[in-house]
Amino acid sequence: MSIKISVIGTGYLGATHATCMSSLGFEVVGVDVDPKKIESLSQGIIPFYEPRLEELLQTELKSGRLTFSTDFSAIKECDVHFICVGTPQIANGIAADRTYVFAALDAIAPVIKDGSLVVGKSTVPVGTAAELRDRLLKINPKTDLAWNPEFLREGFAVEDTLNPTRLVVGVANHLAEETLRKVYSKNLADQTPWIVADLPTSELVKVSANAFLATKISFINAMAEVCEAAGGDVTVLAKAIGYDPRIGSRFLQAGIGFGGGCLPKDIRAFMARAEELGAEQALEFLREIDSINLRARSRMIDLVRRDLSEDLRGKKIAVLGAAFKPDSDDVRDSPALDIAVQIQGAGAHVTVHDPKAIHNAEARFPALNYADTIETCVADAELVLHLTEWKVYREIDPLKLLGLVANPTIIDGRNALDRELWRAAGWQFRALGRSEN
Ligand code: UDX
Repeated sequence: MSIKISVIGTGYLGATHATCMSSLGFEVVGVDVDPKKIESLSQGIIPFYEPRLEELLQTELKSGRLTFSTDFSAIKECDVHFICVGTPQIANGIAADRTYVFAALDAIAPVIKDGSLVVGKSTVPVGTAAELRDRLLKINPKTDLAWNPEFLREGFAVEDTLNPTRLVVGVANHLAEETLRKVYSKNLADQTPWIVADLPTSELVKVSANAFLATKISFINAMAEVCEAAGGDVTVLAKAIGYDPRIGSRFLQAGIGFGGGCLPKDIRAFMARAEELGAEQALEFLREIDSINLRARSRMIDLVRRDLSEDLRGKKIAVLGAAFKPDSDDVRDSPALDIAVQIQGAGAHVTVHDPKAIHNAEARFPALNYADTIETCVADAELVLHLTEWKVYREIDPLKLLGLVANPTIIDGRNALDRELWRAAGWQFRALGRSEN
């Protein structure tokens, strides 16, 4: 018997998961309370930018395996129900808001058939899965709940979903593992590592992985601060330590730090949960990780101030990049936009360019100026800031921009541009963590 799947919540995670599960041959229904999302997905339009996803969505819709609905009764024939709703930071604190996961469970629990399995994929505070399982079993004792955290990166969502680095399944019951083995049989055949855990460990795997990644980035940004003070170069330092396989070279890109919808809120929610559990001391270091990260933004602004003799009023500054990282149109907690807004607040005239995120940036910060092309963005600029490392910015010919700007100075906030190339073309080139500022 083939497995039928439902996906509850069709945001970033859910839309990707539903589409990818369909591409593996499953019949999938995606459900969301937001009629706009469902309407858009049903028409083959992804309401955000993610490479490869829209094309795959259209193929899967045509196959007839993938449908979307706002009606929860559409899931009643499904065998496995993935909960993919968001857990944003609460408005008045650092904890995660669990409202949507509980609402999702309450909406599906009375509808799902006996023998079906609910699988949480959302990033939740440890203990949530057990609570949800108790709640589900009270309503329908002939069902079960497992946890299967998602590690997808924006910009690589399809690849990460279809070919994950590992699959982690938190189960309270052997039957749940058997069902998940069937869902992921293709990955198992491809030798994807399969890790079976209890519910709390599976929840912790996700937040601890993000805490580790955040720590790695803040570590190199702390080294950038020391390099600046000591006259060193953090890019050379990162390269040198990265050759040690125990350290590894990835996530050692010093710059304006991490942002987005996951790392910042996940480390904060992790601290909040540890405190509730009486383990706050264990995660005290994450407070420092968070402050190093936010300090990277201030250090960038300091460099800007220094370059413009401390007075930003009326200065024309071009900002290349608005998304929190390249290959994404996501501007949630974007370090690039945060810096642009702060500089504008100090009196500068800031013009922002981004290949994909202008629409979202404009909706959030309408007071900034936006440009459609790199050339119009930098026109007459007294200073250019490189804040999101899109490939198109690495491909800029600095000679071509030279005649457009009022003053050829660029600050690389991502340590991703070729310094020698820019200098050879006649630019003043500065960067975070490199001594020749
Ligand atoms: C992250 C995790 O990587 C992913 O596994 C999890 O499922 C969700 O959160 P994502 O938010 O898509 O994914 O972004 P990621 O690629 O991790 O980058 C996060 C931020 O760190 C970006 O702002 C990026 O610019 C920054 N970063 C990353 C650095 O500043 N330096 C680096 O070396 C790497």
